[in-house]
Amino acid sequence: MSDVTPNIYWHSPNITRTERERLNGHRGCAVWFTGLSGAGKSTLAHALEARLFERGCRTFVLDGDNVRHGLCADLGFSEPDRHENIRRIGEMTRLFVEAGMITLSAFISPYRADRLRFRDRIGADSFIEVHCRCSLEVCEQRDRKGIYRRARAGEIPDFTGISAPYEEPLTPDVALDTATTPVDECVAKLTKVLHSRGILVAA
Ligand SMILES: Nc1ncnc2c1ncn2[C@@H]1O[C@H](COP(=O)(O)OP(=O)(O)OP(=O)(O)O)[C@@H](O)[C@H]1O
Ligand SMILES: [Mg+2]
Repeated sequence: MSDVTPNIYWHSPNITRTERERLNGHRGCAVWFTGLSGAGKSTLAHALEARLFERGCRTFVLDGDNVRHGLCADLGFSEPDRHENIRRIGEMTRLFVEAGMITLSAFISPYRADRLRFRDRIGADSFIEVHCRCSLEVCEQRDRKGIYRRARAGEIPDFTGISAPYEEPLTPDVALDTATTPVDECVAKLTKVLHSRGILVAA
């Protein structure tokens, strides 16, 4: 990589990702949930994780708000900060996948280019983009955190869907209509995709 600090060298690990995957009994991958606030990314990531955990898979959920408490606590919601947020989360996701985990990343990730950049970085084989498709109207009705109301009142600048853009995936691996499809059905569909992509078997 050309933008790496000089005089830094890569130390290759003794234990490879493939060996970790063999130990785990399944492959690692990034399941990337994108969609508006309230579309159901966290709900589905945690529900899918519970299902996978039951069958003995190594999983971890990386969740937007939680990451902003620590790793990305210094970032706001301007466009450059959002790019940097997703870059860091992408790198973190990559580490988890390298560790052989089924990594469930739940982030609005409003810019298509950021998501595609991550897909290129991790490799399309290890990337499953899940579009939680839900209208702004329904998300706003749900308003679990009361933030749409505050955004409409002008109290929250750069709010996705209201005063900042959301770019829908053009060719997501999975599109879920989270306004109309029950959570269980969405999870069943995701599990099926993990099967068909060969994730749930050892490398
Ligand atoms: N099919 C579905 N999938 C996911 N969530 C659903 C579905 N049907 C209803 N819901 C409800 O929609 C809400 C989604 O909220 P959730 O916190 O998961 O959204 P989010 O996309 O993570 O938002 P944010 O970006 O603000 O974190 C929950 O109250 C959930 O119970
Ligand atoms: Mg969430």
